[in-house]
Amino acid sequence: MKAIEVLKPDEITIVERPIPACGENEVLIKVKAAGICGSDVHIYHGKNAFATYPRIVGHEFVGEIITIGVNVKKLQVGDRVAVDPVMACGHCYACRIGRHNVCKNLKVLGVHQDGGYQEYIAVKSENVYKIPQHISWEIASLIEPYTIAAQVLERGRLTADDQVLICGAGPIGLIILQAVKMVGAKAAIMDVLATRLNRAKEMGADLVIDASSSDVTEEMMTFTNQEGASLIYEATGNIKVLETCITKIASPAGRVVVLGFSTELVQIPQVAIMSRELEIIGTRLNRGKFPQVIEWFDKGLLQPEKVLTHTFRVYDAKKAFTFMDTNPAEVCKIVLTF
Ligand SMILES: NC(=O)c1ccc[n+]([C@@H]2O[C@H](COP(=O)([O-])OP(=O)(O)OC[C@H]3O[C@@H](n4cnc5c(N)ncnc54)[C@H](O)[C@@H]3O)[C@@H](O)[C@H]2O)c1
Ligand SMILES: [Zn+2]
Ligand SMILES: [Zn+2]
Repeated sequence: MKAIEVLKPDEITIVERPIPACGENEVLIKVKAAGICGSDVHIYHGKNAFATYPRIVGHEFVGEIITIGVNVKKLQVGDRVAVDPVMACGHCYACRIGRHNVCKNLKVLGVHQDGGYQEYIAVKSENVYKIPQHISWEIASLIEPYTIAAQVLERGRLTADDQVLICGAGPIGLIILQAVKMVGAKAAIMDVLATRLNRAKEMGADLVIDASSSDVTEEMMTFTNQEGASLIYEATGNIKVLETCITKIASPAGRVVVLGFSTELVQIPQVAIMSRELEIIGTRLNRGKFPQVIEWFDKGLLQPEKVLTHTFRVYDAKKAFTFMDTNPAEVCKIVLTF
């Protein structure tokens, strides 16, 4: 079979590999579609602190089961499935309290272990979720990024009464926007790219802020009747944006949910957090959110088709990565088809 491997930073190629064996607690999946995430591109460019090389990337993938292990009871050959890439040890502190997505010994398919950009992959059956027939492979490959939104909704304790600011209208910011609007909260979103903000408007944002020409703090104060945002999702990955959110935009008793994984130091006076009892909340991957997102997709509660802008054949993965790098304004989500 063929696989797409990042040999080392900035070197991606098609390699020939044997079809993996199916373990007794695993299923063998014929991969049908796989999304490209910003983090896949970061691994390609050697900018992901967690990745090791060589690596078959891809953690947003779906496919059809072609073999099941002898111990697997709840799945069948022919099932259409999505794969949760999060794998945990089950015995560290985080795992013991049910927070396995931040397991001390966390392994993520496509990051620490080979992922979905290969024709066949064997995965633990407990990571596999059936998807309804009516959802296309391309759309189904977006389930994983929507689990990020499901996770941030939980982490930020979003309610319909919140006045939300989403920083960044990239694929993740837009997906969060859709989820926030599904719940019914009032949502502003900011970015510096007009095309991305236009997409946000089409998806129902109550306010879009172009940070290259407007003062985000002022706009947010007007938007919230001078209260400040009760809930902020930081999805630009820019630490200056995070600083502004914490020191100026969050309302007293507000929550700031941090998605980006910059290693740069953030400068915040303690008193900014203390005096308003702010909550600064980390979020990583998802904690068992696949069933919930599959239900959202099944019921048509979201608009994943508005996020998916381009498809490429998997053998053109390198071309797709370059296209994503060079056309940020045009691209939202690229999906590789098999
Ligand atoms: N915590 C998690 O589980 C998780 C999962 C997926 C992605 N992420 C992170 O979430 C973030 C968003 O992911 P994405 O795929 O949408 O990335 P992206 O790079 O496509 O989107 C980021 C957006 O932020 C905008 N931006 C950057 N700097 C800005 C600034 N100073 N002011 C205004 N806008 C600015 C960019 O124009 C871009 O549209 C990234 O940091 C990513 O690493 C976290
Ligand atoms: Zn991703
Ligand atoms: Zn663990």
